Amino acid sequence: MCGIVGYIGTQNAKEILLRGLEKLEYRGYDSAGIATRDEQGVTVTKAQGRIAELRKETEKAGDGSTGIGHTRWATHGVPNYDNSHPHQSSSKRFTIVHNGVIENYEELQQAYIPNVELKSDTDTEVIVQLVEHFSNEGLSTEDAFTKVISLLHGSYALGLLDSEDSETIYVAKNKSPLLVGIGNGFNVIASDALAMIQVTSEYKELKDQEIVLVQRDSVVIKDLEGNHIDRESYTAEIDASDAEKGVYSHYMLKEIHEQPAVMRRIIQEYQDEEGNLKIDPEIIKDVHEADRIYIIAAGTSYHAGLVGKEFLEKWAGVPTEVHVSSEFVYNTPLLSEKPLFIYISQSGETADSRAVLVETTKLGHKSLTITNVAGSTLSREADHTLLLHAGPEIAVASTKAYTAQIAVLSILSQVVAKEHGREADIDLLRELAKVTTAIETIVDDAPKMEQIATDFLKTTRNAFFIGRTMDYNVSLEGALKLKEISYIQAEGFAGGELKHGTIALIEDGTPVIALATQEGVNLSIRGNVKEVVARGANPCIISMEGLEKEGDTYVIPHVYDLLTPLVSVVSLQLISYYAALHRDLDVDKPRNLAKSVTVE
Ligand code: M6R
Repeated sequence: MCGIVGYIGTQNAKEILLRGLEKLEYRGYDSAGIATRDEQGVTVTKAQGRIAELRKETEKAGDGSTGIGHTRWATHGVPNYDNSHPHQSSSKRFTIVHNGVIENYEELQQAYIPNVELKSDTDTEVIVQLVEHFSNEGLSTEDAFTKVISLLHGSYALGLLDSEDSETIYVAKNKSPLLVGIGNGFNVIASDALAMIQVTSEYKELKDQEIVLVQRDSVVIKDLEGNHIDRESYTAEIDASDAEKGVYSHYMLKEIHEQPAVMRRIIQEYQDEEGNLKIDPEIIKDVHEADRIYIIAAGTSYHAGLVGKEFLEKWAGVPTEVHVSSEFVYNTPLLSEKPLFIYISQSGETADSRAVLVETTKLGHKSLTITNVAGSTLSREADHTLLLHAGPEIAVASTKAYTAQIAVLSILSQVVAKEHGREADIDLLRELAKVTTAIETIVDDAPKMEQIATDFLKTTRNAFFIGRTMDYNVSLEGALKLKEISYIQAEGFAGGELKHGTIALIEDGTPVIALATQEGVNLSIRGNVKEVVARGANPCIISMEGLEKEGDTYVIPHVYDLLTPLVSVVSLQLISYYAALHRDLDVDKPRNLAKSVTVE
C-alpha cells in the first residue's frame, strides 16, 4: 500500500527520498512523488507508474536538504497525476503526503472549506487545505496541524512541509504505520524501517494521534493537548543486504529459495540450550487458560491459520476457529468465555486484522501476534508476540512467511501439548529438520516445476487446485499464489466438494492440480481426479513418497502427514512463479496488489 518517506538534514534530500521510495516499492503502488524544499521554496515532482519514471522527472527538481516522498496505491480517485501525492494547499504554502483513508473528509470539506477549489479527487487534499484554512485563521502551523488531526476520522500517516518553515516536518499517524528514524545531524520518517535502513537503524515508534515535529537535530513528540512525550528509540535489526535481490531475478524466487534457511533459523530460535522447544511461559499460560482460540488473519496468513488450527486441536487439544479478519470485525461470532486471539500477519500492519485486535482488546481478551516484523503495529498492540525470523519478505506474493507461520504454529502447539501433559506422537524438531531437507529437494527441482508450469498453465485461462484435509488447506494457498501473480483464474476446492457444483466448470483441457499427500484420503482424492478426468480435465497430481502412483506428475519427499503443507506448498509456489514468468508478468509487483494492506 502507500508508503511515506521524509528527510531533514544537510544532504541532498532528493536522492535519499528516491532510494527510500525504491525500498517501499514492494508494498505496491501506482504513482509516486516527492517534494523537496530549498531556498526557493518547495518543489513537487510526481509521476504515474514506477519510481523509475519519477526519477526521470526529478532531474529538474531542486537540491533541497528537506523533503517528503510518497508511493500511492489508489483508494480515492484513479491513479493519475493529479491524485498522486504530495498534495499542496491552494497557496502552495503547505505540502502533504498521506497514507490511509479519511472517513469524514467530505463532511470536513463542507464544514470548513466549501469554497476551496480542489484539484484532485483525494481525501488527502482536504487535509492540506484544512491546515491552510486554520493557518489563515491565525493559528501557527503546529496548532493548525494539531487542530486538523483532532478533526480527522479514519486512518492516516502524514508528513507535512510548510514552505515558510525550513526547520520542520510535521508528522502524525492514526492506525497507519509511521516511524521516525534518528540520524546524526539528520532525521527521517518512513512507513517501515526497511525504507531508510541504508541511512539509520535507530527508530522511534509513534503512537496514534501524537503530533511529532521532526527537525534536523531533534524529534519532539506531543499529545493533542501539547504535553511533551519522552520516547526511547530502538535499533531495527534488519540487515540491509536482506532487502536486496542478490543473484536472483526476482524477490519471490529468492524468498522461495530462502525457506530451508528460514526453517533452520526458526528451529534455532525456538530451542533452548538443552535442545528442547521453547516458547515464552506467559504465552503458554494464556493458551492454557483459554477455552478456545480464535485465529484472525487475511490472505496467505489466513491459509497458514487453517493449518495451525489442525496443530492446535490435534496436538495441543485446544478448540480453535480460524476467521478472515475483514469479516470477523463486522460479523463477530458468539465468543467463548475465555478466548485467546491469535493474529497471524507477515507485515504486522494489516488494517483488517488490527481492527479486530482493537475490538478484542477493548473487550479485555488476551492476544498473541505471530508476525515477521518486530515492532509492527499488531506486535506492539497485542499482549504477546512470536516472531517468524524469516527476514524481510519483499515480493507481494507471500512464500517464506507462510511456511514460517506454519512452523511457528507447530512449535507453539507442541510446547502447549507438552505443558498440557499430552503425549507427543512426534519429535517435532526431528520432523522439522526432515521438512527442511524436503524443501531443499523441491527447490533443487525448480526446472521440473518450470516444466509443469509449461505443460499445464502456459495458455490456460483458469485452473483448479483440489485436495482433502491438509491438502485442501494447501490447495487454497496454491490457488491464491497462482491467481495473484499470473492472473490465471484459479480456485482451491475440497476434493469432495467438486461434484456439488464446481465440476460444471471442467472442460476439455482444464488444468486440475491435485494434491495427494494424505494417506487417510489418498483413495478418495484419486477418485476425485478420475471424476474430473472423465470430464476432460488435464490433471497434475502432486503426491508424496509412499503414496505415489504411476503417472503422478511430481512426488514430494516423505514427511510427517500434518507437516506436508510446509513442503507441498513449495512446489505450488514455484509452479506459480514460472507460470507468471512465462506470461512475462511483473512477478514481484502484481497489478492492483499491495504487500502491506494498511486500509480496511
Ligand atoms: O501481512 P499480512 O500477512 O497480514 O498480509 C495478509 C495478506 O494481505 C497477504 O497474506 C496476501 O494475501 C499475500 N500477498 C498473498 O501472497
